[in-house]
Amino acid sequence: MKQTLNVQISDKKEYLIQISDGSFEELNQEIYELTRNQKRLVVISKRVYKLYSGDLNFDDEEFLILPDGEKEKNYKNYLKIINRAFEMGLTRSDVIIAIGGGVIGDIAGYAASTYMRGIDLIQVPTTLLSAVDSSVGGKTGIDLPAGKNIVGTFYQPKRVFININFFKTLDKRQFMSGLGEVLKYAFIEESCKYSSPLYLFEFLTLSCDKILQSEPHTIIRLIDYCLKLKVAVVTVDEKEGGLRKILNFGHTLGHALETITKYRKYTHGEAVVYGMFFVINWAYMQEYINYAYYRLSLDLLNKYGFKPLCKQYPIERLVEIMKKDKKATSSKITFIIPSGKKQVTEVKLTPFDVEFALKDMENSKK
Ligand code: GLY
Repeated sequence: MKQTLNVQISDKKEYLIQISDGSFEELNQEIYELTRNQKRLVVISKRVYKLYSGDLNFDDEEFLILPDGEKEKNYKNYLKIINRAFEMGLTRSDVIIAIGGGVIGDIAGYAASTYMRGIDLIQVPTTLLSAVDSSVGGKTGIDLPAGKNIVGTFYQPKRVFININFFKTLDKRQFMSGLGEVLKYAFIEESCKYSSPLYLFEFLTLSCDKILQSEPHTIIRLIDYCLKLKVAVVTVDEKEGGLRKILNFGHTLGHALETITKYRKYTHGEAVVYGMFFVINWAYMQEYINYAYYRLSLDLLNKYGFKPLCKQYPIERLVEIMKKDKKATSSKITFIIPSGKKQVTEVKLTPFDVEFALKDMENSKK
């Protein structure tokens, strides 16, 4: 089964996303055809290299293997890619291929966007999380100790190849992390303004068992729905001047939790899910959504085994981190919150409001 989506950012910027469960031979062949006359630098995660280098038909010298983990999305590894590209003699006509999860895609994407002022980039996401989010839409970047993605660019790939066979070796926690990001799309569907209803919320509810069992055609359909929504958003607003902010649903608190725990305690999807619980709760308390939708929302998260955050972190510190978020203004913190069924809106809260809401959430659990 193969699904193809077209991303049309502008007259000059257009690319295909291919979602398939085809063989690795087919994948190799397609990459080869697309890059036939180019020098290739294949940036690959160590884990993926160990598992799949035998299936991927590249020469040994084409690979640059980087360690796994969010803490590796740093300047040091960025420079490794740039230096290697230079040593290999890559020019502006050549290509960087990113094979791995979001960390590899973001860092290789940032390198591709800056090397010689920009060379071709092909994204081959190997996790559900990177397939439904970071490999598409052109955000690239690296982290600083002070925060995630502080340095980065908007740089669209030349092609995205999603092959769900890579997901077979994901551990359960990483797969669930991807589902955290998938669930986000159910809550924002209406606001994405896709041309026709996809009923993702209902699909996630009805197909929960098949999704949790990774039934291939259900997973392809799921990725296709998520990406149709994401593409609808980034086509209208590539650089996050407005609409694209809705893709950050659950991310304001999520990023703060990742930062406070130094990216070591929670997966990205888990942190985003905690962030979603927080904003759903807040939206209900502030009467942005009614009780029926509040319950429906919590039921969907619970159906996938997600529960609200039970560990407590110093609220003042979380708020300090959120104040430094890229989306924050000097005095307000931006949240995307539910404003109706499958709809979200942007609100700017004072640090005082946020502290109050976090304390309220903690108290409600007692
Ligand atoms: N991950 C959110 C975005 O691509 O805008």
